[in-house]
Amino acid sequence: MAIPTPTDTRGRHLRDLRISVTDRCNLRCGYCMPAEVFGPDYKFLPKADILSYEEITRLARAFAALGVTKLRITGGEPLLRRDLPQLIAQLRAVQGIEDIALTTNGLLLPAMARDLKAAGLNRVTISLDSLDDATFGRMNGKGVGVAPILKAVEAAQQTGFAPVKLNMVVQRGVNDHEIEAMALRWRGTGVVVRFIEFMDVGTTNGWRMDDVLPAREIMARINARWPLQSADPNYPGEVASRWRYADGAGEIGVISSVTNTFCGDCTRARLSARGELFTCLFAAKGHDLRALVRNGGSDESLAKAIAAIWRARDDRYSELRAANASPVPKAEMSYLGG
Ligand code: GTP
Ligand code: 5AD
Ligand code: SF4
Ligand code: SF4
Repeated sequence: MAIPTPTDTRGRHLRDLRISVTDRCNLRCGYCMPAEVFGPDYKFLPKADILSYEEITRLARAFAALGVTKLRITGGEPLLRRDLPQLIAQLRAVQGIEDIALTTNGLLLPAMARDLKAAGLNRVTISLDSLDDATFGRMNGKGVGVAPILKAVEAAQQTGFAPVKLNMVVQRGVNDHEIEAMALRWRGTGVVVRFIEFMDVGTTNGWRMDDVLPAREIMARINARWPLQSADPNYPGEVASRWRYADGAGEIGVISSVTNTFCGDCTRARLSARGELFTCLFAAKGHDLRALVRNGGSDESLAKAIAAIWRARDDRYSELRAANASPVPKAEMSYLGG
């Protein structure tokens, strides 16, 4: 397949594909899937609507032909999807893919870490918003305590995923008092904590600017206790800015998606569990790739269709939000993939 690698209307390449394998989750974090909205009667996608592993792999091949080298498996909670290691193994065999990572809440990780590693998974990021059972239980909407997540971190480290990353979504007045405790707990362990500004993804999480603790403040609080030095990005357009402890105790990341946006070099595409291509985390609608796959299109026609969508891409939602442009209706993050 010799299709030129596409750039979008702002000159951005396509390098990174985030694949949502399910819209379901066993937690109900208020900033992502609030329990009042995602209740017992919520209609998740029926199985027939969700891409099979063969379909995902075919699409991944088309994306790889267009320049994608990095895959991230997300959801919902990706470990709820049956036989996930099998998908990892299939994706591992796709030519051009260099890095496969997984974002998970960790609950099912201890049982699966070895199989995931054996299948070729390179990296794991685990969500952990608090070290306090009461706060964490409230935030995850299910009363789940911290212990199982700590077990997941341990399992990930023992299995040899390196570095293990932790995502802490910081909400002012909810868990921001724990920033220092989180930094302290993981200093010197090799685990990289990323402090994330609470974002206005979807329409159900009740986001208000007042609830965002700016990355600048997060940094200042940590820096006051343990001086930090800036570190170079691991790759161009990295989402997190990296900071190293001056005393050699490792590094942290800060993700400033609200107060210091990074759309300018955003090379990320998202594939929903249902097979729609979203060209931005904040897009209202995706492009239906499942229809192309299921209607017998050739690999080349798939790649051509994806290239055409990417060439037309103009998204830079976070920059426009900062400029106070009118908000658009958006899909939920659990649906289109974090
Ligand atoms: P690596 O750099 O590959 O380790 O991963 P990552 O930081 O891209 O992955 P992760 O899934 O852990 O994302 C961390 C946070 O950044 C999550 O809250 C994401 O939703 C957010 N994020 C990731 N990509 C984007 C993006 O393109 N735009 C915005 N606004 N936020 C993003
Ligand atoms: N703001 C910031 N981060 C979020 N995540 C989910 N919802 C939000 C939000 N509203 C994070 C999760 C997970 C990652 C994929 O995205 O904590 O670690
Ligand atoms: Fe589930 Fe992750 Fe969303 Fe929490 S942030 S509800 S663990 S998908
Ligand atoms: Fe990329 Fe959209 Fe996030 Fe900007 S807001 S960095 S364009 S996904």
